Amino acid sequence: MLARAVTHALVGLDPRRVEVEAHLQRGVPAFAIVGLADRACQEAKERVRSGISSAEAEWPSRRITVNLAPAGLKKEGSGFDLPIALAILAASHQVPPERLAGHAALGELALDGRVRPVAGALAVAEGARRSGYPRLLCAADSAHEVALAGVEPVPVRHLAEVVAYLRGEIPAPEPPANGAPAASAQRPPDLADVRGNERARRALELAAAGRHNLLLAGPPGTGKTMLGRRLPGILPPLTDEEVLEVTRIHSVAGLFPPGRPVITSPPFRSPHHSASAPSVVGGGPGPRPGEVTLAHRGVLLLDELPEFPRPVLEALRQPLEDGVVSIARVGGRSLFPARFQLVGTMNLCPCGGRGDPGAECSCSPQRLAAFRDKLSRALLDRFDLVVTVPRPRSAELGGAAGEASDAVRARVVAARDLLASAPPERTREADDLLARAVDRLPLSARGRERVSRVARSAAALAGCERVLPEHVAEALAYRHPRELAVA
Ligand SMILES: Nc1ncnc2c1ncn2[C@@H]1O[C@H](COP(=O)(O)OP(=O)(O)OP(=O)(O)O)[C@@H](O)[C@H]1O
Ligand SMILES: [Mg+2]
Repeated sequence: MLARAVTHALVGLDPRRVEVEAHLQRGVPAFAIVGLADRACQEAKERVRSGISSAEAEWPSRRITVNLAPAGLKKEGSGFDLPIALAILAASHQVPPERLAGHAALGELALDGRVRPVAGALAVAEGARRSGYPRLLCAADSAHEVALAGVEPVPVRHLAEVVAYLRGEIPAPEPPANGAPAASAQRPPDLADVRGNERARRALELAAAGRHNLLLAGPPGTGKTMLGRRLPGILPPLTDEEVLEVTRIHSVAGLFPPGRPVITSPPFRSPHHSASAPSVVGGGPGPRPGEVTLAHRGVLLLDELPEFPRPVLEALRQPLEDGVVSIARVGGRSLFPARFQLVGTMNLCPCGGRGDPGAECSCSPQRLAAFRDKLSRALLDRFDLVVTVPRPRSAELGGAAGEASDAVRARVVAARDLLASAPPERTREADDLLARAVDRLPLSARGRERVSRVARSAAALAGCERVLPEHVAEALAYRHPRELAVA
């Protein structure tokens, strides 16, 4: 007696079709799972056995072999529980195999037979759609993700419910009644809170318009972290395609806030400086997406940039350039998208006194050199905009609130539209200015490219059809200042 259920395993973000074959033979009762199953998969034995008993179905008193094919693909996690249970039930004729054949399945089983959601339901459902399965048996909490992939979810709460549904005793269960999930999380903090700092606010707006990387440098307590955290609030909402991309990543990482399985606004990630290189760029078994991938289409804030270990910062260089992280593993390569905007904040020296007219820097030249050593020229070169954030004056701090994020976002959206439909080109004069700057400043080829992109964003924000010399001049003013000169 042999029966099959179909599910999908994830390699990185990629779904791969997996056939779960259950073979029941005469002989001493036993239960084995073969086919490169990891520990969580092996533990499925206990959950499936208890789940089937709790669903008031019969545990076949046979020699049961479950094969997860293809055997060469590593299977991880607990999402195979439900398909394994269904293959066994079909092989023992407790559910009709021909009814099961029209469904893919995904879900973890609790010992009492309840079906639990697992990470990555959206990517698995996309795999099911590609393999030609119109329906996916899944936990009720995964139903929204599955529907997002264009597959009809059959949301089930308990294994007994699946059995009854497949036997045709009950109609397909309805998705949870609380309807579409509340898409908007709590709003990001508002720019109105930031007083003064006009130049840094302008840099933030330019960064949002052109998706530029931004470095905020200055003495302590001047509002650098505050400004960095406010970038997501002035970014346009994600497009439909981006919603799918970002939701897929966060689903695979198992990072949904409860009741919010769809991400519609640009993500914001701010790892602590003690984070390891694999946690930032991705890796480990699986492999798992890192912070750069979780920040895809959004913002990665590295607060106190020089505190991050240099290997972590250097590991960022490649994804910053390519927008993708490639992780090689035995048996294949995983590609993780990583098109994020990097925002860094830093003091100008270890004691924090530099750049503050009211304080004196007490750092020794050696300490200063070691501090600067942390940031390679190559990394600094990848920041399109570098601003020093001076201490706001007391009149500014006591003055009126700054412009609110909504107003800034409206300008950013208009500029993005212009950049997408008719990107402004440089005039002859603007070209000349840029050429002179390349000769006079230490401006690398990448630096030149970045200046010209920032100039284009400045023109778009001004609603200009051409990039004028003033836009190039503004962009040049955001190249790294002498205080940050790396030896
Ligand atoms: N421009 C500003 N407008 C209003 N409040 C500000 C401003 N700058 C700083 N503050 C206040 O100071 C606090 C600290 O600011 P923030 O954490 O952004 O400083 P920082 O520049 O990141 O300092 P550090 O270098 O020590 O990390 C904020 O929570 C806010 O209350
Ligand atoms: Mg700070």
